Amino acid sequence: MNMPRRAASPGNAPVLELDRVTLELGDREILRDTSFTINQGEFIGVLGPNGAGKTTLMRSVLGLVPAARGTVRVLGEPVVRGNPSIGYMPQTRSALAGRRVRGRDFVAMAADGHRWGLPHADAKTCADVDRVLELVGGSALAARPLSELSGGERQRLLLAQCLLGNPRLLLLDEPLISLDPHHQKAVVELVKRVQQELGIAVLFSAHELNPLLHALDRVLYLGNGVAALGTVDEVITKPVLSRLYGSTIEVMRVNGRIFVMSGDVEVEKHDHEHEDDHQHGEPHSHGHAHDHAHGHGHAHHHASRDGHTHDV
Ligand SMILES: Nc1ncnc2c1ncn2[C@@H]1O[C@H](COP(=O)(O)OP(=O)(O)OP(=O)(O)O)[C@@H](O)[C@H]1O
Ligand SMILES: [Mg+2]
Repeated sequence: MNMPRRAASPGNAPVLELDRVTLELGDREILRDTSFTINQGEFIGVLGPNGAGKTTLMRSVLGLVPAARGTVRVLGEPVVRGNPSIGYMPQTRSALAGRRVRGRDFVAMAADGHRWGLPHADAKTCADVDRVLELVGGSALAARPLSELSGGERQRLLLAQCLLGNPRLLLLDEPLISLDPHHQKAVVELVKRVQQELGIAVLFSAHELNPLLHALDRVLYLGNGVAALGTVDEVITKPVLSRLYGSTIEVMRVNGRIFVMSGDVEVEKHDHEHEDDHQHGEPHSHGHAHDHAHGHGHAHHHASRDGHTHDV
């Protein structure tokens, strides 16, 4: 069969194209008849309330959620599972904090062929692991066990994993969720530096716009089955956001920060406070050493941090 294939030349094809895409989960329509194009070298902030479809969109780009209608293309080609052009950092990362594995081995585990075993990496993989550790400034973390690293340091290694194999598109699902503002800033700066150094495109989902403001080129805002892609000035407006939230939204700018308000409630903050990572049918990820939300006054107590590690 000769499918008309466009040349998959990363030099000129857009990194990601949605052409009249509808995404459904069960009987729910998550995204409706949506088209947009993301280009080489763009840093895209993916925003939207809980359940808007940020994760689902990323999973569709990975070929894990097939489009009910329309076409998703990556570098000019229809999506395939296991596409080496894509690096993915999933949203649920809770089990990591308790693991004793060394930083370097942890990164190597994500290399092809080493996913399910202890890494006995070949020379090429070793070189790639060294390269990505260097790239994220993580070489000093290589010998230390994961369990002794801070959330921000673990995030560095997770980013290193995503960069194995030289992807052209990074899908980073909520990399900031577990981090305090200081570490959030460091992660955004790290991703931005790596993204520019490699000239790759990044989809970076987050609950708050402000930490991403200086890093992003455009915003992809999801809500109500609709997507709006554009600059901050184009998208973060009363009419656009009111349509996406399905109610009247006010946008306030104060000292270079932007606040998205519904009545007197700041909607992004409100979402964030209710964020938890046991919402995707992964009950084992809850209840031990999950490294999120501690900066938000939740103060969970994990009495048995070490004796309670059912890894996922
Ligand atoms: N198997 C399923 N069947 C039906 N609906 C589902 C299924 N899985 C997820 N959903 C729903 O799909 C919607 C989109 O979920 P998704 O995880 O993509 O949102 P999100 O924008 O990533 O949210 P969050 O900010 O909480 O991470 C949610 O309302 C979710 O409850
Ligand atoms: Mg999500």
